Amino acid sequence: MSAIDEIKQRLDIVDVVSDYVTLRKSGRSFKALCPFHTEKTPSFFVFPERQSWRCFGSCATGGDIFSFVMKKEGIDFGQALRLLAERAGVTLVSKQQGKAEEEQWERLYQANDAAAHYYHHLLLNTKTAEKARSHLEGRGVAQETMASFQLGFSPNSWDALCNYLIDKGYGEDQLLAAGLIVEKEGGGRRDLFRNRLMFPIRNAQGAVVGFGGRTLDGTMPKYLNSPQTAIFDKSGILYGIDRAQGAIREQGLAIIVEGYMDVIAAHQQGITNVVASMGTSLTEKQMMLIKKLTRNLTLALDADAAGEEATLRGLEIARRAFSERLTSVPDWLGGTSRLKANLRIILLPQGMDPDEVIRESPETWRQLVVEAVPLMDYFFKAVTSKFDISREEDKAFAAEQLLPLISEIEDAVERELYLKRLAGLIGVSEKTLAARAAELRPTKRERARRAVSLSPAQPFRHPLEEYCLCLLLQHPELRERGEQLLPEYFESTENRELFLAWHDSLGMEMLRQSLDVNLHHHLDSLINRALPPASESEFEAAFVDCLRRLEEQRLRRLKALEEVLIAEAESEGDRNVITEPVETLLQKALKPSTQLKDVFEKGRREQEGAQQ
Ligand code: UTP
Ligand code: MN
Repeated sequence: MSAIDEIKQRLDIVDVVSDYVTLRKSGRSFKALCPFHTEKTPSFFVFPERQSWRCFGSCATGGDIFSFVMKKEGIDFGQALRLLAERAGVTLVSKQQGKAEEEQWERLYQANDAAAHYYHHLLLNTKTAEKARSHLEGRGVAQETMASFQLGFSPNSWDALCNYLIDKGYGEDQLLAAGLIVEKEGGGRRDLFRNRLMFPIRNAQGAVVGFGGRTLDGTMPKYLNSPQTAIFDKSGILYGIDRAQGAIREQGLAIIVEGYMDVIAAHQQGITNVVASMGTSLTEKQMMLIKKLTRNLTLALDADAAGEEATLRGLEIARRAFSERLTSVPDWLGGTSRLKANLRIILLPQGMDPDEVIRESPETWRQLVVEAVPLMDYFFKAVTSKFDISREEDKAFAAEQLLPLISEIEDAVERELYLKRLAGLIGVSEKTLAARAAELRPTKRERARRAVSLSPAQPFRHPLEEYCLCLLLQHPELRERGEQLLPEYFESTENRELFLAWHDSLGMEMLRQSLDVNLHHHLDSLINRALPPASESEFEAAFVDCLRRLEEQRLRRLKALEEVLIAEAESEGDRNVITEPVETLLQKALKPSTQLKDVFEKGRREQEGAQQ
């Protein structure tokens, strides 16, 4: 959790505001004389549920805990952050620390990059790499492919890489942190990779973050991978993503295979939308990488591993990740069908890897891709091959396995088709199964909760504000449109600060520089958040829609006074409590509703326009 989130979690806005003004409980909120302007009737409210404040009087502003302190103390965001961090007992990242961390990462990238160059040079030019070269040649890997994947060879030595890199000016600690060398048991250090065919692993930006090294002499493990480092987390990376992402986006389909060689064989044949999970079962993080690019995912499964628990678990993760709508993204482009995921399975011929299939015949591979079966069909197949469905108890087991999956299918027609199929398969009436499925079907609330529980617990979020920033940060072409945004649209100070920094900077580097380091985490999460794939014009339309909704939200906040006052009157059991000056406030509050109506009207007209 970021320091900012921690502060929000530990401090209550009611406590903080109480230090400056005397709050009185009023229904579900608190009210006071506004500390920012002189008044006789309280029009300043604090809302504990939203952790926000608002003055409905002449200031007509509001915000969160940070903006309150900023305004009250007359300080900037960084200062308010420090003040509140101290109060909450939260340690912030200092500018130096933030910078030091980025520099540290940079050094790790450089060390890995230098190692990749070194290994590659050895593969191409040394006699000891002969067996590695012939291994590759024997498997049909062309010279150009070796070069473009920067394949390499680690020499059979305890210190060759270490010495080479230290000569080049790298420090031993740096190499250790990069996972290139490791501590020896009896003390001292040694190269991690020895006598192996080397596969540099790159992140989506193309930087080398780690390696996989294949044995050539049967030493175990078959593939040795870099350990977890500050820049390498195997479970969060897909091998080949740097080169495949363009093709995945263009073709609207990602294919996930298991191995390094499978990716290389595919790309060599011009099949470039292929990435590898590197042997592990699929993770949430890997799914996030793909979701940014497409909603269509096909997994190639090894015939032997296909029915194994680990594989099924991985598929379950993929299914969840892909069936869940993006929770923090408002419903846009009108409807769910565009976002509907399409998850398919390629069942490989017995005993063959994609690498072998492709080498034997790229045509066969293309055919397998076309014939890939929907995941649910695959589950049917897996279950029916595991159970003997002519036996009564196995029928029950099969239903037990499949019904929960079927009950979660969003589309009612599709759900019914699978129910019908299961009914036929086990000889139970469709009606009985449908009733059972309906029981199992999670409620909307549960689905939302489950989606949220996939990500760590978070304090109160502003999804629309974040979505808007995501669009701006990930789509520079929206800059001009973004100029129409107002700082007041952002109730969350983090978002407002980010927006202001975006507004005043020319590029990502400048933006990052101008932000408090404690906001970098928030910035990165927005830059990396998966948006549903769409065309440029669709993104533009989504942004326009977003703008309208933010405006609407702002007006709603102004209008919220009406609700507050009514709730207050009701909680005091007497509507007559609304006295004269309050009536005037109410009048004021009602004014925005005409404006709100305009916004709705405008939205409707635009929608109608778009449909014509
Ligand atoms: P495989 O054992 O299927 O290897 O593991 P492969 O890719 O077919 O290798 P070749 O064709 O024999 O050269 C699939 C993937 O699982 C990961 C690697 O990413 C490998 O490519 N793996 C496998 C490991 O990380 N460690 C291992 O020990 C084995
Ligand atoms: Mn293989």
